[in-house]
Amino acid sequence: MTVHRLSPKILSAMEGAVGQGGVAIDAADMAKYLGDWSGDHHGSALVVLKPASVTEVQAVVRLCGALRLGIIPQGGNTGLVAGAIDIETRGAVIVSLERLNAIRLVDADNFLLQADAGCILQAIKDASEAHDCLFPLALGAQGSCQIGGNAASNAGGINVLRYGMARDLILGLEVVLPDGDLWSGFSGLRKDNRGYDLKQLFIGAEGTLGIITGVEVKLFPKPSQIETAYLGLPSFEAAIALFREARRECSDLISAFEIIGSECMELARLIDPDIVEPVAAPVHVLIELSSSATIDLRTLLVDFLAGAMEKHLVADAVLAESGAQAKAFWAIREGLVEGQAKRGYHVRTDLSVRISDIPVLIAQARDFVTLEHPGWIPQAYGHAGDGNIHFNVLPPLDLAEPDARARGVDITARLYDIVNALGGSISAEHGIGRTRQRAYWAGMSPVHRKLVSALKNAIDPDGLMNPGCLFPSTETVS
Ligand code: FAD
Ligand code: LAC
Ligand code: ZN
Repeated sequence: MTVHRLSPKILSAMEGAVGQGGVAIDAADMAKYLGDWSGDHHGSALVVLKPASVTEVQAVVRLCGALRLGIIPQGGNTGLVAGAIDIETRGAVIVSLERLNAIRLVDADNFLLQADAGCILQAIKDASEAHDCLFPLALGAQGSCQIGGNAASNAGGINVLRYGMARDLILGLEVVLPDGDLWSGFSGLRKDNRGYDLKQLFIGAEGTLGIITGVEVKLFPKPSQIETAYLGLPSFEAAIALFREARRECSDLISAFEIIGSECMELARLIDPDIVEPVAAPVHVLIELSSSATIDLRTLLVDFLAGAMEKHLVADAVLAESGAQAKAFWAIREGLVEGQAKRGYHVRTDLSVRISDIPVLIAQARDFVTLEHPGWIPQAYGHAGDGNIHFNVLPPLDLAEPDARARGVDITARLYDIVNALGGSISAEHGIGRTRQRAYWAGMSPVHRKLVSALKNAIDPDGLMNPGCLFPSTETVS
């Protein structure tokens, strides 16, 4: 793709599409749209356009199509795989959805909510709560990420084991297609078996098939009680055995089951040096049960944990005595992710395997790092109930960043080999973006490749939607 410079005539056409307030072209104005949350990736853009209505999104898409300019849809820019920024300097237009941010409807009777794509996830959660409902998508970035970005990246988070990923929570989408047409797929229906389920094409497509402008989501009854416990365990094997038992004994009431290798505490401490670890054990588990019914949740959890301690699965357990204490437990989990960004460049992964294979994945990955990259620090945490482990590797502090990045490429490739040999996935929830497309394409069967390419070519024949994301390059799609 040719890198263009924008002529005054084109700029004026862009201003015509979104108004002067919807155009950012100066370096200072564009800066926040060009760097990602982690600080690992910086990109470029010809211009950032910020449409404030669906019609303006259509106008932008038509204009970029006529000029053959690539479009990068951007939500809250919290993605961790450089999907919303152009790190290859292709000369694209970033289309930020931040001004398209109204909640359109909360229908508590039908347990559904409709919102503009640029609505911040936290605002959707708050609006649901105001109607005594729960929107269960929950992730550390919920104060900044947008529902359109959540849909485009099929976000996961800590409540997936109970409520599913974004894909399971979305009832309908509204999408501006690459030719500027609007596809409106809101129906409020829970069941609709008329042919292809088109919304699923756009969920997880990472902005490569169109710009999502509206999202219709499922709501749930707001839990009236939540019980949280922070546990210390002897091993990852014990954590998986505990999860198995918890599924049977606590049934569908488990809403979160997170594991944290104790070595991750050094990251949490980068954010809060005074953090008090609730337990002293090699592996920590955060378990949460929730219910909207009046059952004795506390007794269920206490009895379950007593049994687990007798079986030596759990060495130490602290039950939250208040909402504030539960929040403090979760702050440790969130803090370690923020600490990662503060620590600087490191190998960041998002692997999934069958739940029972988690201990072997972690053991093999740790052994590989320890043996072949002495001085590098392996760390594992994640959504164990979903088989999803963030296995990260921190470089030695005295290693220069360019050297760390170069070595990081090899380490990542080997970690992918390990997960592939276990029949797992190199991306459980963060997506492919611009950092993983080569590994993604290399791991695809020819038939899978044919289907993915056919979809892209059918919906975005000119390859203008998020060029360089998901596909190594639009030119190679065949
Ligand atoms: P962006 O980063 O702006 O974009 C992500 C992708 O979606 C890009 O490819 C972009 O082009 C595309 N896109 C964005 N908006 C649209 C749109 N309207 N139409 C079409 N395409 C669009 N992810 C998880 O899955 N689980 C977690 O637990 C989790 N925890 C996180 C914790 C922290 C602290 C951070 C920083 C990130 C975390 N993430 C997690 C990753 C990230 O927050 C999610 O993937 C989130 O869904 C991205 O939303 P966003 O609005 O920031 O999207
Ligand atoms: C989390 C993000 C990093 O699990 O996916 O916190
Ligand atoms: Zn995660």
